[in-house]
Amino acid sequence: MVWMKIYAPLVAKHAKPGQFIILRTDEYGERIPLTMAGHNSEDGTIDLIYAAVGRTTMLMDQIEVGECFADIVGPLGKPTHMEGLKSVCVVGGGTGNALAYPLACGMKDAGVDTYMVEGFKNKDLVILEDELKEHLGDDHVFVVTDDGSYGEKAFTTVKLENLIKEGYQFDEIVAVGPPIMMKFVCEIAAKYNIPSVASLTAYMIDGTGMCGGCRCKIGGEDKFVCVDGPEFDGSLVDWDDLMKRSNYYKEQEAYDRAHVCRLTGGVRYND
Ligand code: FES
Repeated sequence: MVWMKIYAPLVAKHAKPGQFIILRTDEYGERIPLTMAGHNSEDGTIDLIYAAVGRTTMLMDQIEVGECFADIVGPLGKPTHMEGLKSVCVVGGGTGNALAYPLACGMKDAGVDTYMVEGFKNKDLVILEDELKEHLGDDHVFVVTDDGSYGEKAFTTVKLENLIKEGYQFDEIVAVGPPIMMKFVCEIAAKYNIPSVASLTAYMIDGTGMCGGCRCKIGGEDKFVCVDGPEFDGSLVDWDDLMKRSNYYKEQEAYDRAHVCRLTGGVRYND
């Protein structure tokens, strides 16, 4: 997991928790959306947390201090809704925890009593536990792993339901992670009549609502994650449609150096 601070004063000046940016590493790079993990309008920086798992994030890893990205667009999307909330549980799955971290911290900073369930496959993949505990408090962070190699052996959904059964009161449950996890988290919220919010990620191109690349179905209507989201009422998300769409580009998403994009005029990504 990499934590990067980028000097982007115009973005930092207007950024709010829950918003994201789209960046390109170079002129021919793909555009990837990343939720801001923080911002400082005084020194003009924004924070990004990411895992180097795809082509662009691997290229980001090669950027040295002092070098620049081709461009950064933002802040994009609607800020996290927090008004009127007293107690919230944020549920993060895998690398989704990197996106959940700024959400949870932003809520806590806004005065919401914020709990966090962090879920991972195993101990080696655990991230941001210390940072979350420092921000939310030790007794507000629950780490679970699928194989029990760290924290409690449980799925996030099971842990969430146990907390509710134990008497924890939440005004809202926020899910950030793989669509299948978010789907089940939102179902548990519905079972206990708790409103849920799903923070969706999608394939994005322009980030301004014009290309339609990030379309998803919410309550039977077409919405764009980039301008209408990225957070939506979890009970209204058409999860099957979202999961189908998120598999569209699985093959191309692999770290395939042989691919030559015709949009770039036949120029290859840097090797
Ligand atoms: Fe193009 Fe949202 S990214 S419409």
